[in-house]
Amino acid sequence: MKLFILVALFGLSIAQHNPHIKQGRTAIVHLFEWRWADIAAECERFLGPNGFGGVQISPPNEHIVLNSPWRPWWQRYQPISYNLCSRSGSEDELRDMITRCNNVGVNIYVDAVINHMCGASGGEGNHSSCGSRFNAGTKDFPSVPYSALDFNNNKCKTSSGDIENYSDVFQVRDCRLVSLLDLALEKDYVRSKVAEYMNKLIDMGVAGFRVDACKHMWPGDLEAVYGRLQNLSTVWFPNNSRPFIFQEVIDLGGEAISAREYFHLGRVTEFKYGAKLGTVFRKWKGEKLVFTRNWGEGWGFMPDGNAVVFIDNHDNQRGHGAGGASIVTFWDSKLHKMAVGYMLAHPYGVARVMSSFRWDRRFVDGKDQNDWMGPPSNSDGSTKPVPINPDQTCGDGWVCEHRWRQIKNMVIFRNVVDGQPHSNWWDNGSNQVAFGRGNRGFIVFNNDDSDLDVTMNTGMSGGTYCDVISGQKEGGTCTGKKIHVGSDGRAHFKISNSEEDPFVAIHAESKL
Ligand SMILES: *[C@@H]1O[C@H](CO)[C@@H](O)[C@H](O)[C@H]1NC(C)=O
Ligand SMILES: *[C@@H]1O[C@H](CO)[C@@H](O)[C@H](O)[C@H]1NC(C)=O
Ligand SMILES: *[C@@H]1O[C@H](CO)[C@@H](O)[C@H](O)[C@H]1NC(C)=O
Ligand SMILES: *[C@@H]1O[C@H](CO)[C@@H](O)[C@H](O)[C@H]1NC(C)=O
Ligand SMILES: *[C@@H]1O[C@H](CO)[C@@H](O)[C@H](O)[C@H]1NC(C)=O
Repeated sequence: MKLFILVALFGLSIAQHNPHIKQGRTAIVHLFEWRWADIAAECERFLGPNGFGGVQISPPNEHIVLNSPWRPWWQRYQPISYNLCSRSGSEDELRDMITRCNNVGVNIYVDAVINHMCGASGGEGNHSSCGSRFNAGTKDFPSVPYSALDFNNNKCKTSSGDIENYSDVFQVRDCRLVSLLDLALEKDYVRSKVAEYMNKLIDMGVAGFRVDACKHMWPGDLEAVYGRLQNLSTVWFPNNSRPFIFQEVIDLGGEAISAREYFHLGRVTEFKYGAKLGTVFRKWKGEKLVFTRNWGEGWGFMPDGNAVVFIDNHDNQRGHGAGGASIVTFWDSKLHKMAVGYMLAHPYGVARVMSSFRWDRRFVDGKDQNDWMGPPSNSDGSTKPVPINPDQTCGDGWVCEHRWRQIKNMVIFRNVVDGQPHSNWWDNGSNQVAFGRGNRGFIVFNNDDSDLDVTMNTGMSGGTYCDVISGQKEGGTCTGKKIHVGSDGRAHFKISNSEEDPFVAIHAESKL
């Protein structure tokens, strides 16, 4: 009987590790701060047709609206209620977006902020995205409703009420994260309001959640909340599908709280992945690509089945969160494309691509004074739409890394090689490496100063392939380099590091 219960519980939680991505798709993209109307259009015109599996959206619930600084991106991480109107749009627009994305095979994952409400100094009034009244001073959020009773008050033992010592797990979980009013998730009532919010989104058709700030919540409390979640809507997902859960736990090692504590509940963000791969591509600390032969668990990362991986995220691309200076972002576009390419070619983890907006970086003593800046916006603070240029790039400050040919084509590469083993490794002992995915794909990187000019075994069937980095297959012809693979699977590659993109990738569907 005990064994039976164990098996049942195990089965339930393992299910929450499955992103329920549609057949033939593998990767997801974070459309950070995009409006729902733009995401709906992007699903139909770009993400669906190009094989993207899902979108992580910004928090859809009501949030504080701040004037100083002016409408920062992080105001969305300060909930006022679970009403579904935010800087990205209304509840109707959200519902329309979820439906339209689902209709073209693209899942929606919601960024769920359930650890806290707004900051203690958030003031009072109705400066909130739906106009709900609240009082941060008295911890009154009538639109949920939450009152002072629903927060961790005396449970926190620091004099400031904030987390002061990250080595003290009680502080990290019972005190306020940078003064954000900390919800008492041990209370049945709080759990029920959070679950009600998440279930409403499940009813609307979302596939799961990126759960914010999980380090700051007790695993047992999260388990209780997740346990109240319904299965996914059978309009779009198979019967008995658990919502996909991936938890933000920043664990670069050496802290009191480890990512491992959350493995049984869902997947976890593997922050070591982008921090380390950034160090490798930057060639810092003596790192070289040759050392990535055993990339993944071999590098001390979490088990494959637990990991969500990414090169940068909305926090660490602007110095927030963790990872440090090694993180490669769109600001270092050449290295970023290579690192994202490496991630998408490699089998480890569920891969998430970042899609950013530009801001006016201004460094003083190595610190970006404008790391708070919100998305491209109009003078009234409303978020600007994402215009698509004739060359398919985005305008008005939206970076759209996911539309860059190299990244989009590597998303397709990952789909084509799905399920194939990491194979046919080659390296030159330094920063020139190559690997394949069975007989379905092969990728070669030159991150050294000297040219790469080598013939190697690709594991692919003989024929001529189109390199999907320098170009792509269009109507039977190749707009980039052509790679000839002999009947013995060997091919010659020549890559100069001075090229715009010093890497080459071919796959079964880029065969001419
Ligand atoms: C906030 O309250 C004021 C005064 O009651 C009202 O005029 C205004 O429309 C409200 N703002 C929103 C966004 O509801
Ligand atoms: C922080 O917490 C840890 C664990 O409780 C404790 O050992 C350490 O002394 C604390 N540090 C300070 C500065 O209070
Ligand atoms: C899903 O469940 C419903 C209701 O129990 C049932 O009618 C339907 O046949 C099931 N579908 C599949 C594919 O099993
Ligand atoms: C939800 O799905 C799980 C399996 O993933 C199943 O055990 C459970 O009975 C389902 N719950 C409902 C209410 O259908
Ligand atoms: C590998 O790359 C290094 C660094 O550019 C270069 O010096 C070396 O000659 C290359 N080795 C081989 C075996 O090609």
